[in-house]
Amino acid sequence: MERITTTIPQAEVDRQLQYCREIARMNADRGEAPLAFVDTYGCQQNEADSERIRGYLRQMGYDFTTDEEQARIIVLNTCAIREHAEQRVLGNLGALVHVKRRNPEQIICLCGCMAQEAHVAEKVRQSFRHVDLVFGPHVLWKFPEYIHTLLTQRGRIFSNADDPGSIAEGIPVVRQDKVKAWVSIMYGCNNFCSYCIVPYVRGRERSRRPEDILAEVRQLAEEGYHDITLLGQNVNSYGKDLEEPMDFADLLEQVNAIPGDFLVRFMTSHPKDATHKLFETMARCEKVAPVLHLPFQAGNDRVLKVMNRRHTRAQYLEKIRDLKSLIPDIVLTSDIIVGFPGETTEEFEDTLKVLEEVRFDALFTFIYSPRVGTPAAKMDDPMPREEKLANFNRLVALQDAISEEKHAAYIGKTVRCLLDGVSDDPRYDLTARTPGNRLVRVTGDREALGQFRDVKITGANKWSLFGELA
Ligand code: 5AD
Ligand code: SF4
Repeated sequence: MERITTTIPQAEVDRQLQYCREIARMNADRGEAPLAFVDTYGCQQNEADSERIRGYLRQMGYDFTTDEEQARIIVLNTCAIREHAEQRVLGNLGALVHVKRRNPEQIICLCGCMAQEAHVAEKVRQSFRHVDLVFGPHVLWKFPEYIHTLLTQRGRIFSNADDPGSIAEGIPVVRQDKVKAWVSIMYGCNNFCSYCIVPYVRGRERSRRPEDILAEVRQLAEEGYHDITLLGQNVNSYGKDLEEPMDFADLLEQVNAIPGDFLVRFMTSHPKDATHKLFETMARCEKVAPVLHLPFQAGNDRVLKVMNRRHTRAQYLEKIRDLKSLIPDIVLTSDIIVGFPGETTEEFEDTLKVLEEVRFDALFTFIYSPRVGTPAAKMDDPMPREEKLANFNRLVALQDAISEEKHAAYIGKTVRCLLDGVSDDPRYDLTARTPGNRLVRVTGDREALGQFRDVKITGANKWSLFGELA
């Protein structure tokens, strides 16, 4: 899958900004700033994409609301990873028909991974006639042009042609958070795990140029961001498609060299591309947070093979051993799928063995969900749902016990944490994150919000830690 990434010419992006200015002029003629609602589903990549959609909307003169009735533009930025996520979006999208009836001028947009799926776009075309604009992730950079067309000509726009994907720089961003920031370093995925829709909707792997990434991180550091997450579907294969190929570990090293008081994280990593060099770099670079999210999906080699993961359980465990020898207090998290087609309960038990051996700090656990167009969706799937659920519950119970023990080990320690939010639990003032990204609920002065401070850990449960500002 050799391929050099195509970059959208700057003149094209400038043309989009020109549309923004024209729309802003139209909006200014109408008096007070109109409102827009951007509703995001799914992963951090979607959060990052929504920040760019908001960036464009701001340039068009919109302010933001979460009230559908007030919004002149509604954007649903969607996720296609599991059926449950899709059902939720379709439910919410369907309900907007009534909102639009009361506000006929409203423009309703569906974008993100679901919008890229041909069968979803067709369904929207036929049955969701109140939706004006459907566009996939590949053409997000053209959003202003679509809005301009809708404002001046009405009609409906569907833009979700198959596309290997490209890179567009210079799109404005409105960030949601003042303390933590996302930086996309690459897009797409080449792995084609047999259950996964992502390669079909997000196209092939393509990397941003290191100088663009480093400039963005430098700016964030100067603006006082303390927690920066480098994003990609598979960050470990960063740079292979660049004209001058570059390694993710080298990029991390260069990010680490940027002056500023910040921690850098990254996700997601694929075990087959996570190298000893990466682990060494993590160990050596003081700004790189001591945490790794390394999905293993299943503990049985036959299942891993049918999943097309291209690593074995032994290879995975060897990587973990290597990493733990370099960073003994590394915080480890993973993704697991239960009930992949043909996985027996005996094979599932190999997954439990991996949990016992690695002792992850936390897991993201999913029941397999068939996705149209993926190889796994055509595989025989004889296990009844109740048996999958029973296995799923065993997995969650085991992990809960491990998380609880791991969290209990923090009690009595003082940890430098980033105070990142106001607690929704009234018994605590703030929330914080340990360097390994464990959640801490903290009592103390709310003035500390946005700062790194020592927190004395006084309690814990399976989900989080509790503490007080030291
Ligand atoms: N069914 C269930 N879980 C899935 N994931 C990806 N595709 C599916 C699917 N079809 C999970 C994987 C992946 C995470 C982001 O979502 O565990 O790592
Ligand atoms: Fe999906 Fe596998 Fe790519 Fe992750 S690595 S996005 S699970 S195909």
